[in-house]
Amino acid sequence: MKALLVLACVVLAALATPTKPSLRQAKVVRVVPQTLDQLHHLHQLLLQGRYDFWQEPRALDTPVDIMTTIRDLPELASSLKSHGLKATVMIQDVGRLIDQQAAERLQRDSRAMDWTDYHDYDTINAWMAQLASDHPDLCTLEEVGKSYEGRAMKLLTLGKGGADKPGIFIDGGIHAREWISPATVTYMVNELVTNSNTYDDLLSNVNFYVMPSINPDGYSYTFTDDRMWRKTRSHTDSPFGCKGADPNRNWDFHWNEIGASSNPCSETYAGSGPFSEVEMRVVRDEIIRLGSKIKVYLTFHSYSQLWMYPWGYTSALPDDWKDLDNLAQDAVSALTAVHGTQYEIGSSTNTIYAAAGGSDDWAKGVGGVKYAYTVELRDQGYYGFLLPPSKIIPSGEETFEALKVVANFVKNTYSK
Ligand code: ARG
Ligand code: ZN
Repeated sequence: MKALLVLACVVLAALATPTKPSLRQAKVVRVVPQTLDQLHHLHQLLLQGRYDFWQEPRALDTPVDIMTTIRDLPELASSLKSHGLKATVMIQDVGRLIDQQAAERLQRDSRAMDWTDYHDYDTINAWMAQLASDHPDLCTLEEVGKSYEGRAMKLLTLGKGGADKPGIFIDGGIHAREWISPATVTYMVNELVTNSNTYDDLLSNVNFYVMPSINPDGYSYTFTDDRMWRKTRSHTDSPFGCKGADPNRNWDFHWNEIGASSNPCSETYAGSGPFSEVEMRVVRDEIIRLGSKIKVYLTFHSYSQLWMYPWGYTSALPDDWKDLDNLAQDAVSALTAVHGTQYEIGSSTNTIYAAAGGSDDWAKGVGGVKYAYTVELRDQGYYGFLLPPSKIIPSGEETFEALKVVANFVKNTYSK
């Protein structure tokens, strides 16, 4: 009977969230390049655009995770083998794991916001509206624009020291499939609001400007059509019908110079021009509007457990990199103290790879925000983007400790 029920749920889930047929038996394999030749070969494979790199080649002795359809597996395997790269399987069957997680979600059937599960865009927006109406002294919610497909984009402001206090701008979900990002961002907001007495001092001295899911169309698409979608959903001129641009290659600072693609079918398509994506224009305009009030910009991604600062377009470091590194060290120490989770710290080019057009680079290089960070949340590839919902609370708990360090720094440094 129980088996039947589970089966029924799997079938229902499969109907509710159609897994792309190509993901059936798709695998995520890991290789660790040990020579420059191997690293180079992985770069070539990446540029070829045939495989979905969950973790891109970074450096020697650093794992690379590649998703492949079952059809392309033999070719990938022989290409890796020809360069002496040994692959281990991280995820046996991506499609099955997606279906299984969708079935579990359906079984819980929790439409209300919580942090034992991932929630869709409407649920997050409804929760923010409720929060603002329950705590008018602390929260303001404004619609600041609409996505390509017409979804309302909202900015939640937390704070009670008045608009002139220094602020931290936080966004999540720029890449659609990185579900732990909006989940962690909303966790932290909930923590601040529901324990506002505990954080009275912080909330009286620092404003938090939060947009938990800045790629609403892509995020919604991961719930309805393709769990592994990364980009926006805008139309492109691709003759193959490929859609969307990589929103984190779309910002107008050294746009499309490196680590981005001009091919609309690529996962790192920079867009038809800088700020071609309306969602990024919306976020940009808020950062500009808030101007010098913003002292820190935090953008949350997954996965790899990294706390990175600019630049992403060059291996050169900003003049004040030591200031950014120091604050990152303090934030990560607090994070690690909670559950022992290890994070790596560094400039994004030197930590992962050069990629221009990121929001962090723009925030610092054009927006004038001194402390701009990209945080890659859990895990290190065991589940990758398919991090089980049981990890949301631990991720929220540890990341919140890091946020508190950053917020206290802002208070002590900038609040008068
Ligand atoms: N994984 C992120 C991405 O590929 C890292 C971004 C780091 N920042 C940067 N400006 N490249 O978008
Ligand atoms: Zn990302």
